[in-house]
Amino acid sequence: MEGAIPNPPNARIAVVTGGNKGIGLEVCRQLAGAGVTVVLTARDETRGAAAVEKLREAGLSDVMFHQLDITDAPSIARLADFLKARFGKLDILINNAAIVGVEYLLDPFDSSPTSEEKFSGMDKRQRIEWLTSVVRGTYDAAREGLQTNYYGTKHVIEALLPLLQASSDGRIVNVSSEWGLLRLINNEELKQELNDVEKLTEARLDEVLDTFLNDFKAGELEARGWPEHFSAYKVSKVTMNAYSRILARRHPELRVNCAHPGYVNTDMTIHSGPLTPEEGAANVVKVALLPEAGVTGAFFEDGEEAPFV
Ligand SMILES: NC(=O)c1ccc[n+]([C@@H]2O[C@H](COP(=O)([O-])OP(=O)(O)OC[C@H]3O[C@@H](n4cnc5c(N)ncnc54)[C@H](OP(=O)(O)O)[C@@H]3O)[C@@H](O)[C@H]2O)c1
Repeated sequence: MEGAIPNPPNARIAVVTGGNKGIGLEVCRQLAGAGVTVVLTARDETRGAAAVEKLREAGLSDVMFHQLDITDAPSIARLADFLKARFGKLDILINNAAIVGVEYLLDPFDSSPTSEEKFSGMDKRQRIEWLTSVVRGTYDAAREGLQTNYYGTKHVIEALLPLLQASSDGRIVNVSSEWGLLRLINNEELKQELNDVEKLTEARLDEVLDTFLNDFKAGELEARGWPEHFSAYKVSKVTMNAYSRILARRHPELRVNCAHPGYVNTDMTIHSGPLTPEEGAANVVKVALLPEAGVTGAFFEDGEEAPFV
């Protein structure tokens, strides 16, 4: 499935997770358009190969597919082996794959014109209110959300780190969210702890995530200061941001940043977002292609550096 297209000499190599649709697919398109050799990954071979075909038909030949389920250790290991054998390094890792960590009460794939009409005239707050009304938080969905968004992303980074270090300009962009800002945690002590990246450890982040799940099970989310709606999604992005900052401090040889794409019209938002996937992806690609020796350990909102809080 990897394809036999030789990458141009000196081209930068990028891996995009969850590249088969939405923002991830557009990130692949824009990176390839900027002359980067793109390894588009997806958990489903058929959907991933179809996405690569779509980009190749659009004239972007330097895109290849490799299977990757970010929650599956052997799948991550196979991607690392492939990259090592084929390129011996990785220049850009875009951790885009994520799930919303709640159950949808209606079809998230509904992108029909009627759905577009439904949102015209609604402001951002009204769109989010609508989205909140068509999902239901469950413990299983929350646990899966943390496993995918936090642990899956972390495991991919750990496996690909040696290859990023083999690059002269290794970059990680973790696709985050304004729903990953610390202001969403209604617990001053925890907020300060998560913002104190000099002291914060990965082990502490594991504890925080375990506590969150225990509080979820006990029905104490609100009482313990966790976000009420999309709580697992928000907590996964808050902790992923914190982990990115730990990583940036530990690896000054790399650029490790977080990027909020904006509120985007994709399956994840049941097409309620006002931005197109192209616009959302541009906010991510801008961070991926920042000039050499640029900022690290930073958060970007709509393409501009912004506070984590
Ligand atoms: N849309 C927004 O408004 C918005 C706002 C802020 C942040 N974001 C972030 O932007 C990123 C992309 O979101 P999107 O809106 O483009 O969502 P999307 O259309 O639902 O796409 C999500 C992608 O992640 C993949 N994925 C899910 N679980 C995976 C796994 N275990 N292994 C590999 N791939 C997996 C999906 O694959 P399948 O097709 O196989 O399910 C899909 O390719 C996410 O990190 C999201 O949190 C989105």
